[in-house]
Amino acid sequence: MAKILLTGGAGYIGSHTYLALIDAGFDVVILDNFSNAKPDVPARLEDITGRPAHVYEGDVLDRAVLEQVFSDHTIDGVVHFAALKAVGESVEKPLDYMQTNVGGLLNLLSAMDHAGVRRIVFSSSATVYGDTDIQPIPEDHPRTYTSPYAFTKIAGEQILEQLPDDWAVGILRYFNPVGAHGSAMIGEDPEDIPNNLVPYIAKVATGELERLSVFGDDYDTPDGTGVRDYIHVEDLAEGHVLSLKSLLETGEGHTVNLGTGEGSTVLDVVHAYSEACGQDLAYKIAPRRDGDVAVLTARPERAKEHLGFEAKRSLADMCRSSWAWVSGQRRNDPN
Ligand code: UFG
Repeated sequence: MAKILLTGGAGYIGSHTYLALIDAGFDVVILDNFSNAKPDVPARLEDITGRPAHVYEGDVLDRAVLEQVFSDHTIDGVVHFAALKAVGESVEKPLDYMQTNVGGLLNLLSAMDHAGVRRIVFSSSATVYGDTDIQPIPEDHPRTYTSPYAFTKIAGEQILEQLPDDWAVGILRYFNPVGAHGSAMIGEDPEDIPNNLVPYIAKVATGELERLSVFGDDYDTPDGTGVRDYIHVEDLAEGHVLSLKSLLETGEGHTVNLGTGEGSTVLDVVHAYSEACGQDLAYKIAPRRDGDVAVLTARPERAKEHLGFEAKRSLADMCRSSWAWVSGQRRNDPN
């Protein structure tokens, strides 16, 4: 069976994709610097799969560790998650974002080229579409950046588009991934006060945070709050498996949105989460957050046509799985 390198494979989306790849019969090697992943993730992956996880602790900026991985294993393809991903932080530290996200990608591509590995799936983001009224967004919508983070994702896509024909590249533009694995043993686990909606709501549900601030209720949307295309992280993980299979089987690349095509408002998410955790969740209406757009939803058809990908899980599934994970963690570590 094909052997796949996952950079950032201990992170939130990476660890779910690890499990989906193992389920699909792939051999998988993880490279992660654990800058945004808990040290016990590999042990949890081993518990879930019942087999040892091959994990290298190292950075994509470290050429020596990349050479080591490619010399220890015959890798058939790479899924590249390892990157920095906070929009606000990228404004504070643009050089760090360019170094890790662009420099890391170049380093990886050059190590792959050296090892003769020319199949790569790249984590991109709906952020490459900027602020647009065209909703849902098709993949051929022009790219534009509104933050250094978005700049690095566009730069990554453009670098990949320059590769010669014997490369096959899958560019996956994620919408808003949420939820956790069905085992409730892995999930999103931010250290600090979360920036993102669902992790924040989760901490209101556990009592760690008092109440959610809903950023704006005067948008032109059904209830005035922001609309996003939330996608269950297990659906997203399965999208990576399909992308990789397509690259390995056809040698042809693709650029696709990974979303559901459905929009939910902030209050829809609050209500779905409240239903999942069985309690009312406190919130207050706050001013709009700088840089937010009113609506961001995917046109999902291309991923269906090219990869046979279709998100199957509902907003209720996303909230239930998040709550199962978060409440289980809380029981294990009540402080
Ligand atoms: N929101 C709140 N309160 C919060 C947090 C978020 O009301 O405390 C609202 C936002 O205003 C927005 C929605 O919830 O309407 C979703 O916000 P998130 O922060 O969860 O997600 P974003 O859509 O802002 O950002 C996500 C990714 C980014 C990516 C961006 C565009 O986190 O990495 O989509 O693709 F750049």
